[in-house]
Amino acid sequence: MRRTLYLETFGCQMNELDSELVLTQLRARGYESTDDRQQADVILYNTCSVREHAEQKVWSRLGEMRNWKQTKPHLVIGVIGCMAERDGTNIFQRFPHVDLLCGPGELDKLAMMIDNLTTVGNQLHSERQVALMGSRSRRSSTLAAAHDNLELLDLSRSFSPTDNAAQAYVRITRGCNKFCTYCVVPYTRGPEVHRPPENIIEEVRRLADAGVLEVTLLGQTINHYRYDHGDGRITTFGQLLYQIHEAASHLPRLRFVTSFPRDFEDEALQAMRDCPRICRYLHVPAQHGSDRILKLMNRGYTAEQYLQFIGRARAYMPDISLASDFIVGFPTETDQEFQTCKEVIRQCRFKNSFIFKYSLRPGTTAITRFEDDVPPEVKKQRNNELLDVQAQVCDQNNREMVGRQVEVMVEGQSKLASRWVAGSGNGNQVELGWEKRQKSQDADQPKFQLSGRTRGDQIVVFDGDPALVGQLVEVDITRSKTLTLFGRLTRDRRPVTAGV
Ligand code: 5AD
Ligand code: SF4
Repeated sequence: MRRTLYLETFGCQMNELDSELVLTQLRARGYESTDDRQQADVILYNTCSVREHAEQKVWSRLGEMRNWKQTKPHLVIGVIGCMAERDGTNIFQRFPHVDLLCGPGELDKLAMMIDNLTTVGNQLHSERQVALMGSRSRRSSTLAAAHDNLELLDLSRSFSPTDNAAQAYVRITRGCNKFCTYCVVPYTRGPEVHRPPENIIEEVRRLADAGVLEVTLLGQTINHYRYDHGDGRITTFGQLLYQIHEAASHLPRLRFVTSFPRDFEDEALQAMRDCPRICRYLHVPAQHGSDRILKLMNRGYTAEQYLQFIGRARAYMPDISLASDFIVGFPTETDQEFQTCKEVIRQCRFKNSFIFKYSLRPGTTAITRFEDDVPPEVKKQRNNELLDVQAQVCDQNNREMVGRQVEVMVEGQSKLASRWVAGSGNGNQVELGWEKRQKSQDADQPKFQLSGRTRGDQIVVFDGDPALVGQLVEVDITRSKTLTLFGRLTRDRRPVTAGV
């Protein structure tokens, strides 16, 4: 029987990849995906627990569906990902209409769990399904990972050229061993497990064969990758980068996120410098600029050590583009300590920073050890101040780009253009600017505004044919705004395919 699936994803790139793999598995079992929740036989939320805000969105989605089963008794509602792992069966108490919980480390079992819930007549024919890592023995050895069922989930991905995607994620490590005091990830995703290099290399190569132009390797602390083959051989992260670069010589862009600032070996920086198709971009969260706060966060480095790492990266690649994360309002943070974050942003000249207000997370060390004593309005103020400093740095960085020619991966029509095409226009400054520009141009020549990213992950907006979406093009940067670069198409660059 043909069944319909609605899958909504919250959170990080790791979740996006998990969702893609879940979709592949369920499609292979005959499921069709839909964007309309009301049409679906199975509704899944792939959830994030990193901050409270992300969880609230899912609570409200689940709340909205409280009575849906009265009219559709066969409907299956599932919570998968980090919230399932963190909240466990408490979710059933709050939302009795949920049928299934599956943690991020158990997704290989998801299709079977849904099968178990399959309808007989018009009713669900099974009890609720639960697969959580919980206190079960942790997947600790890298060797065991080769036989791990989750590895099969990664291996099950589709390489069909008809999928037509130019960008893809490939996981190289799962989980995290860092236990930063504020963070739920080590509890929801479990310990760090490293995938066998041959599986990773094969996956990247096959994606490139299928026409993918940009592969992003994923790991929570990706530079910690180190695979012990069990026969005396070790593959380090740097070696892995060299090997992928060589094996997928027809892949124009290889990038990776997220790096941990400590233990970043020179070999990985050398690989980035030596291999022209590896993007010179690092997302390497600092989290804070005060040694006392970094210690309370259990980050394992001082601000000075962080700055030294950035100096080392720039020494290898003066043109490297850097991005960071910061948490403001961590318990006991003084205003003076907060100011140090501004200094780090200025000194490192980040391309961008993701700035978060500290959010209490049940189960973490911080919640038991520290009182959340920075008032919400102070967190908000510090958040805004830090965004302002980052905006000044972005503005300066972007001005320096004017006049340069850059390679851009076209990702879609820019928001501006889609809103203009939709004919909305709510009178804010950005849209007025766009409308004015349209009127001054030849009305017979409709222009589309495309947006894409440079190798350094900077956003570039330019006019062009929507058929360029999913391709690499050259753009001359003509103008800059605080967060965006504007340019003119130089010449189309055909997608690089196998053998070219
Ligand atoms: N509160 C606020 N931000 C958090 N992050 C992780 N946990 C928390 C929390 N409890 C941020 C960190 C991390 C990013 C993914 O989310 O900056 O790098
Ligand atoms: Fe969380 Fe720290 Fe691990 Fe990043 S390194 S996932 S912040 S515990």
